[in-house]
Amino acid sequence: MNAGYAKYIPFVPIHMDHRTWPDKQITKAPIWCSVDLRDGNQALIDPMNLQEKLEYFHTLVDIGLKEIEIGFPSASETEYEICRELIDGGHIPDDVTIQVLVQARPHLIQKTFEAIRGAKHVILHFYNSTSTLQRKVVFQTDVEGVKKIAVDAANLIRELSQDAIAEGMDLRYEYSPESFMGTEMDAAVEICQAVIEAIQATPEKKIILNLPTTVENCMPNYFADEIEYFISKLPSRESAIISLHPHNDRGCGVATAEMGLLAGAERIEATLFGNGERTGNVDIVTLALNMYTQGVDPELDFSHINAIRDMYERCTKMKVGERQPYVGELVFTAFSGSHQDAINKGFNYMEQSGTGKWEVPYLPIDPTDLGREYEPVRINSQSGKGGAAFIMHHKFGYDLPKAMQPEFGHIVQVETDAVGKEIPAQRIYELFKENYLDATTPYQLVRHSFAEFTDDEGHSHVTFAGTLRHQDTVFQVQGSGNGPIDAFFNAIHGQKMDRFTFVDYKEHAITDGSDSMAVAYIQLRDAEGKDHFGVGISHNINLAPLKGILSAINRAVNGK
Ligand code: KIV
Ligand code: ZN
Repeated sequence: MNAGYAKYIPFVPIHMDHRTWPDKQITKAPIWCSVDLRDGNQALIDPMNLQEKLEYFHTLVDIGLKEIEIGFPSASETEYEICRELIDGGHIPDDVTIQVLVQARPHLIQKTFEAIRGAKHVILHFYNSTSTLQRKVVFQTDVEGVKKIAVDAANLIRELSQDAIAEGMDLRYEYSPESFMGTEMDAAVEICQAVIEAIQATPEKKIILNLPTTVENCMPNYFADEIEYFISKLPSRESAIISLHPHNDRGCGVATAEMGLLAGAERIEATLFGNGERTGNVDIVTLALNMYTQGVDPELDFSHINAIRDMYERCTKMKVGERQPYVGELVFTAFSGSHQDAINKGFNYMEQSGTGKWEVPYLPIDPTDLGREYEPVRINSQSGKGGAAFIMHHKFGYDLPKAMQPEFGHIVQVETDAVGKEIPAQRIYELFKENYLDATTPYQLVRHSFAEFTDDEGHSHVTFAGTLRHQDTVFQVQGSGNGPIDAFFNAIHGQKMDRFTFVDYKEHAITDGSDSMAVAYIQLRDAEGKDHFGVGISHNINLAPLKGILSAINRAVNGK
């Protein structure tokens, strides 16, 4: 690496004698505010048009968001029109508050009041930048200078609010000291306290103080220290709701939000899948589902996450990454053999334990809670025997006996090595069919009959009579036993095919549409002690094992 790093100025953490946040826990959902339609939208290559914004807005409402920043109506005619359509078109449910952003500048504040006319519940969100860097580089002013900008805006907003409030609007205020995390904490407290006083916030009519990491520039623990310090020093803390607005420049937006909540914040501004300027805003889905998987109700509904993702991709023309937490295409799958086996065991354990608790290794959340499937294990050359068996079970209904799984896993692995890439589930089924179900030569059962009777002691006696073909030779066999398998084995005694001993057998039903079939797995052993597996399926539960035996014999004869 070159010495370029030397030109960067490291973040200076504030000094804390005593911090309490590391011992806290998140036990309830914060107040959520979506900033998708403002911060997210402004960062798109093609900002959303009216139809797209409306569709997005309705999805946010369906998810359960009660505070939604709809835009920056003083910034452009399009933004203004969209705000008007939401209000005039009756799109805003009564329990949803729209939020509008405006810079702390008089003419923009005036225009914003025009834009929100007639809305029922509004948060008017004003901001100006306060950080050391912005003061020095952009505004060439001191703390007093930025404080005055904020206080003048607060005074004007309070004055212009009177008519709207008189007309019945439920109007609340939000102030953001933009670039908060780069502001000296005592200065941030001083500016925010001055705004609280100017806007005349009270514990009954609180102002939202939104503390953004406009550009994330420090580790989340340092940010949490800032929040705890800020809250402890703010004289009118009871008149404020402390909100966070994390961006994600260091990739720590989620941790910043979570630690900020531990430090006392009560509200989070975020976007779906983390859309937003540069590396994005913090991802509301990850935050909410992180809470969910800790047993905390996030009060947001992501039970149809694929539909939300599709809407997001359609409206924003952005792509959700394959490994994006909870929603990415690959997050509910496993390639590694040991992971596949453990997942398999986890599902079985849950079935047996019946506790209702989620205890599946490698899957932190039940995919069905998100309307997703456990995308059965994906198979590539890293996969093990359990993966192929899992797919056969969960996708196709074949519950392979344990003893057979290594053999079938090997068959699949030979294929993945040969093709050098992932193989789809359908191909795994084809391999199963080709290797077991289609092992019908050289020995075939041409026709057969069973006769069964039960003696006085209740013992069952079965007689099997059948015609078999071996290549061009057709021959008859007959035998009796205590069941169909026993009778068949006795029938082929003395034939060339009689060099196997019967080891084990498993049978179960599979449903193919409305059709129910029996599948039988047979394990035979030859004179050298080598095991041979075969599988038979039939509508007739007596016939399935016979086909399975022939499948095993044919595979052995064919050197499989
Ligand atoms: O990131 C930011 O600081 C903002 C403010 C306008 C809240 O988006
Ligand atoms: Zn932002």
